[in-house]
Amino acid sequence: MLTPNSASSNSATPHSATSNSAKIAVIAGDGIGKEVTAEALKVVRRAANVFGRSVEIEELPWSADYLLETGITIPANGYDHLRTFDAVFIGALGDPRISDNRHARDILLGTRFELDLYVNYRPVKLLDERLCPLKGRGPKDVNFAVFRENTEGLYVSIGGRFKAGTDDEVAIQEELNTFKGVNRIIRHAFAFAQEHGLTKVCMADKSNAMQQGHALWQRVFKQVASEYPAVQATHYYIDALAMYMVLDPGQFEVIVTNNLFGDIVTDLGATFQGGLGMAASGNLHPGKTSMFEPVHGSAPKFAGKNIANPIGAIASAALMLEAMGWKQEGAAIDAAVLKAVRENQVTTDIGGTLGTREAGDYIGREIR
Ligand code: NAD
Ligand code: IPM
Ligand code: MN
Repeated sequence: MLTPNSASSNSATPHSATSNSAKIAVIAGDGIGKEVTAEALKVVRRAANVFGRSVEIEELPWSADYLLETGITIPANGYDHLRTFDAVFIGALGDPRISDNRHARDILLGTRFELDLYVNYRPVKLLDERLCPLKGRGPKDVNFAVFRENTEGLYVSIGGRFKAGTDDEVAIQEELNTFKGVNRIIRHAFAFAQEHGLTKVCMADKSNAMQQGHALWQRVFKQVASEYPAVQATHYYIDALAMYMVLDPGQFEVIVTNNLFGDIVTDLGATFQGGLGMAASGNLHPGKTSMFEPVHGSAPKFAGKNIANPIGAIASAALMLEAMGWKQEGAAIDAAVLKAVRENQVTTDIGGTLGTREAGDYIGREIR
């Protein structure tokens, strides 16, 4: 018999909802990660100020620059250090100078794995019809949550290369699917639906072609769905899901899928929201220190130019405060972001004229 887990809410950290101060670790990272993180912190400090809270922020230098200077991606006690905070915020990691991307694997994927942040919560919510590239679609059509499994799948780097660099090279990359991993993310998706008064959960896999690992997804999904008779459980193969997201996004309320497919469909979802600059995420383990980051990467071509859209990072900071139990603060940030979008006080990627800093300033000023 399946045992229900405690993943029934998005209260992500050990922090008490009534606590007046919070300790947040910040890894701004690389490229535009640094710029959007500065704006997210500006807004967090402002929200804390307005509502009489205090935040203690420790900025950690882990990044491509840090690796090039020290030879270290993340210090030996790095993950233990992160666990001492109420939440972790990451900007973005990725730099053309680090061609094997090992610092991003250690810092970003390492944090997800080592802190066991098994829920990657990526809301896909359109704030204004003007931002959506889908013909005739508005905010009522684009409002769903993607739950991406975040600790296994094809991301675990199990495998190897044989005769690398030769014409006989063999490269094996295994996909890990465990009952524990599949069960806890699917249960989280159903529990989220129930708690939020939602009635539809869609699971996407590729069980027609991947008959081992994805048979496990099928079995667990059917089992959990049978325990939630009030929720309509549907299944699409991942290729069909991508098509239906574009054709009829309004049919979705909650989508649950594996690590790689969740990565891909949330970039697609971000385009419905106005682009990668708009999308927010939380990497959660209910009851433990969780991590928050925009969905986008370090966009090296945009770095240092004050043009990156800070909204994805700012909205991720709002998710972080909500998860810490600071509901009013999170809601105030969301309202200020919505105002900025409606008033077109935004960056050029979504049709405004502001720079990264000016867009952050506007949102900060609107928090009251
Ligand atoms: P990317 O998300 O960095 O950028 C892709 C494109 O999306 C950009 O060229 C830009 O047009 C747009 N974009 C992204 N963020 C934006 C913003 N805030 N404002 C406006 N437009 C924005 O993806 P990429 O180019 O594939 O990857 C660049 C680097 O980032 C790589 O090293 C990659 O591995 C890394 N990456 C890191 C993360 C992360 O840290 N979570 C996520 C994705 C990619
Ligand atoms: C994301 C990113 C990462 C991922 C990369 C940088 C490893 O694309 O957070 O969406 O694939 O998870
Ligand atoms: Mn991605």
